[in-house]
Amino acid sequence: MITVSEQEKVFHLNNGRISYIFYVMESGQLGHLYFGKALNRDADYLHMVETAYRPMSTYMTEGDMYHSYEHLRQEYPGFGTSDYRYPAVEVSGPDGSSLVKPQYQGFRILEGKKPLPGLPATYVEEPGEASTVEISMRDDWLGLALILSYTIFRDFDAVARSVRFVNHSKTPLFIGRAMSMSVDFADADYESVQLSGAWARERYVQVRSLGPGVTSVSSMRGHSSHHHNPFLALKRKNTTEQSGEAYGFSLLYSGNFLAQAEVDNYNVLRVTMGINPFGFRWKLEPGAEFVTPEAVTVYSEEGLNGMSRQFHRLYRTRLARGFWRDRERPVLINNWEATNFTYTEEDLLRFAKTAAECGIELFVLDDGWFGNRNDDMSGLGDWTANRQKLPHGIEGLAEKIGAMGMKFGLWFEPEMVNRDSDLFRAHPDYIIQTPGRSVSHGRNQFVLDFSRREVVDAIYVQLYEILSKARISYIKWDMNRSISECYSAAYPPERQGEIYHRYILGVYELHERLITAFPKLLIESCSSGGGRFDAGMLYYAPQGWVSDDSDAIERTKIQYGTSYVYPLSCMGAHVSACPNDQVGRITPFETRANVAFTGAFGYELDLNRLSEEEIALVKRQVEFYKKNRSLFAKGDFYRLISPFEENFAAWEAAEPDGQRAFVTVTRILSEVNGPYRRLRLCGLCPDRKYRIRGKYLSYEAYGDELMQFGMRLEDKSSGQVIDGSGHCEDFCSDLYEITAV
Ligand code: GLA
Repeated sequence: MITVSEQEKVFHLNNGRISYIFYVMESGQLGHLYFGKALNRDADYLHMVETAYRPMSTYMTEGDMYHSYEHLRQEYPGFGTSDYRYPAVEVSGPDGSSLVKPQYQGFRILEGKKPLPGLPATYVEEPGEASTVEISMRDDWLGLALILSYTIFRDFDAVARSVRFVNHSKTPLFIGRAMSMSVDFADADYESVQLSGAWARERYVQVRSLGPGVTSVSSMRGHSSHHHNPFLALKRKNTTEQSGEAYGFSLLYSGNFLAQAEVDNYNVLRVTMGINPFGFRWKLEPGAEFVTPEAVTVYSEEGLNGMSRQFHRLYRTRLARGFWRDRERPVLINNWEATNFTYTEEDLLRFAKTAAECGIELFVLDDGWFGNRNDDMSGLGDWTANRQKLPHGIEGLAEKIGAMGMKFGLWFEPEMVNRDSDLFRAHPDYIIQTPGRSVSHGRNQFVLDFSRREVVDAIYVQLYEILSKARISYIKWDMNRSISECYSAAYPPERQGEIYHRYILGVYELHERLITAFPKLLIESCSSGGGRFDAGMLYYAPQGWVSDDSDAIERTKIQYGTSYVYPLSCMGAHVSACPNDQVGRITPFETRANVAFTGAFGYELDLNRLSEEEIALVKRQVEFYKKNRSLFAKGDFYRLISPFEENFAAWEAAEPDGQRAFVTVTRILSEVNGPYRRLRLCGLCPDRKYRIRGKYLSYEAYGDELMQFGMRLEDKSSGQVIDGSGHCEDFCSDLYEITAV
């Protein structure tokens, strides 16, 4: 999958569907040639380099008026040359200069893909799945080696990149900017797509036209954030969900990031992605190494859905790991929205009993079970049972839940501490704070300094103790505030620029230690909902709580946006009570389940407060989900109608061989006497006949008709279906089953 023209030093990564091509410039730096649909392997493509005499430009060598870094498309540009765009790398040496001009040294091709030490990464399982080329670069003046790693996959239209820095000099170097990837596209006629929002409205799809200058998303909060996801896509203006060119860039990282698209004044587009250089300065000691997080870039000519399907398949099967990767996820019930902090063991057992009767498989006890935790003022950091609420401890409760035939799960917030806690009283110095300055709280809590080994150890010991004693199958790992006043008491002044990154390395390390000690533990990540819902976390936690907003209508947008990158198998989605906790909206029970089915399904309410009919419905929903969950988790997902653009949301999950599919259609507001509608489906076999079954609809049609003419929709609110109930039909939804006959 990787060819190298030895003489010209052109590197061509090609899996038959995509090509990524770069070369060694005369100056010894790397130039970019092409990324997109696969091109012929035989050509050398050096004629793609566009140079022209441009008066008043700055040229590389005296006498030459053609080669200017400013006008050459580059691969991993250094700071301080005559390329005036944002660089990929900036490192300062002992003389205070920050110029980086790495020179090509050589390459090696490896079968497969190497792991990244202490960092999440995609991986391979069998020979032949991927090939990697490592390009060695060196800046002799600095004594700095850069090893650029590119992996191309046989089965996914993706290239994974990361960079290793090695200090070969005798003095420390300071890395100020170490992006995971940089690529210069030959034109800038794209729109960028980002997933941005805020707490309870995470990952809304935002499209911007690119113009001269920089378009970027980033985080400086110490976690990837609710506000911007570490992801960026490029699409042509005529690209739709189903067709046209799309590029996706995703960073496997959960801390401060930057994803940026810079259009220069010659319509060349540079995309860079990596650790946010703002607030980052890494001291690289002589002989030491620094490895950037991995960035994954995807190309699709099948629109944004095609891009998403590549991410889904890669991330579900070669990023998520371990026992739970391919297993069906248990239907869970979580007590948070039903009880908040106030409950007794008896309440929980009553709650759990009904859940067990409904077929629910996992009972999750959320916040409030530990220390002196009765509200959010105290307790974080003390991970032992609150005996007033739980007289038999977690072991006792877990046993009783187990006896009901359910697994037991527990909430933790390992990275946090309240002032009012034994941990804080014993170690007030364990928090992140700038000496002599006031420290901000978030929800009355402070961030433990996970850049310090002893702090991570202290939490690990507590977690190990409880996980090894009680029968705990699942944990919900929460993280409810951003970092502020970032400073670590354990590091010298010149290392303070490392703390944000070291913090995340500490989080990853604790995860790794836990899954090593408890390989069958299912971890669901959470950060006030979806504040750290990123590809980095997926490596440790195969599912995540998408958002604290559990309203089904809000969720259509949040899940729609989330699906741009992340597979359904990892999206925690629950049926919650009405009026909804966050927006007060009342939605049909059916709608709440239909939206949540396309995720890791569960409930977030007290079943004992439901009517008999509703309980019967819950039983049917649980049964339905159990029967069909592997299709939702492993099927191909297609977004059909965007709730950001229309009064509807519609999506489809189809078996990869197109034999069976589910289509979820959710209408926001009721309409009067509306138009006839059809929905053009995807992923079916054109020549096969299908049976379509909806609540009001049953007919047979061939795949080609369903994909070309569309599937009929029967809309109750517009009078096309009359059931005489006279109920308001706002927020209703239908689930259609499409089965090959
Ligand atoms: C966060 C989570 C919620 C819940 C609460 C508990 O907000 O996102 O799901 O666990 O914390 O305090």
